[in-house]
Amino acid sequence: MGLLGSDAVRLLSPIHNVFGLTKNELNITNTTSINTIFSNIKPDIIINCAGYTNVDNCKKNVSLANEINAYGAYNLANASKKYNSTIVHISTDYIFDGKKEKPYIELDKPNPLNIYGKSKLLGEKLVSQATPKHYIIRTSWLYGKNGNNFVKTIINASRKSTKNELKVVNDQIGSPTYSIDLINAIIFIIKQKSYGTYHVSNEGYCSWYDFAKKILQLSNINKEILPMCSEELERPAIRPKYSVLDNYKLRKQFNYTLRAWDKALEDYSEKEM
Ligand SMILES: NC(=O)c1ccc[n+]([C@@H]2O[C@H](COP(=O)([O-])OP(=O)(O)OC[C@H]3O[C@@H](n4cnc5c(N)ncnc54)[C@H](OP(=O)(O)O)[C@@H]3O)[C@@H](O)[C@H]2O)c1
Repeated sequence: MGLLGSDAVRLLSPIHNVFGLTKNELNITNTTSINTIFSNIKPDIIINCAGYTNVDNCKKNVSLANEINAYGAYNLANASKKYNSTIVHISTDYIFDGKKEKPYIELDKPNPLNIYGKSKLLGEKLVSQATPKHYIIRTSWLYGKNGNNFVKTIINASRKSTKNELKVVNDQIGSPTYSIDLINAIIFIIKQKSYGTYHVSNEGYCSWYDFAKKILQLSNINKEILPMCSEELERPAIRPKYSVLDNYKLRKQFNYTLRAWDKALEDYSEKEM
């Protein structure tokens, strides 16, 4: 199971009857398998944490990215409608182009820059068309106990590297989000029974460079982090330079706030690192 899925199962299992399914147990591109699972389990709520999440590889696997991120999500939403379930679908800050330079609210116009963002945006559209009982949760820069994430990448890279310094991009700004805070917010949102699209990220923002510095500080690793620009990294997919999500609806409608990203990271470092 992936980063978010495994933490969702961990957090929700003690309080709900949870079926955490791997890709082998439920491939969301297979409608027959989806129907079998839905008819056996008859879930009240399905949280779709599945995704083709390798942003750079999406460029050379466009159809697979769409098959999973868009049509796979649609398959689940269709089954949710058929079985009167509620679907929670996870989306991303990468549906925005980053040109706003102010935090994005739910009503801002998406304009994804890369294939991953395009496939995720199509997923959002298809899910919302398939069933009214949907929550689309856009989040950003996730890290958690399991799966691949930036926190682990930075710690592993600095432990492996024989150099004294590590270069990290400082011209992309976003909000690192702890999976546990995201899941708690999802639990809260579901209880409100107000379907629709929500932004859910830890509060505040930083660059990957700031994020890396904080990670090393918390892990007591003595390496210097040097700033670099995105172009220097030469990654296949363009990323938005600014993809901060404003949790506008959560705050305005329900007075719900998440903690600041650095406080969440401190908590993560104490509990999970
Ligand atoms: N990570 C982030 O920074 C971030 C930021 C914003 C939004 N999101 C969104 O949050 C969601 C969860 O992300 P994550 O970071 O937890 O991703 P992840 O760690 O890559 O997990 C994705 C999971 O989906 C599974 N999967 C792939 N294809 C599948 C299929 N056809 N059927 C069923 N399962 C399939 C993968 O299984 P295999 O590993 O076996 O292929 C993997 O377990 C995704 O929708 C992602 O777009 C993530």
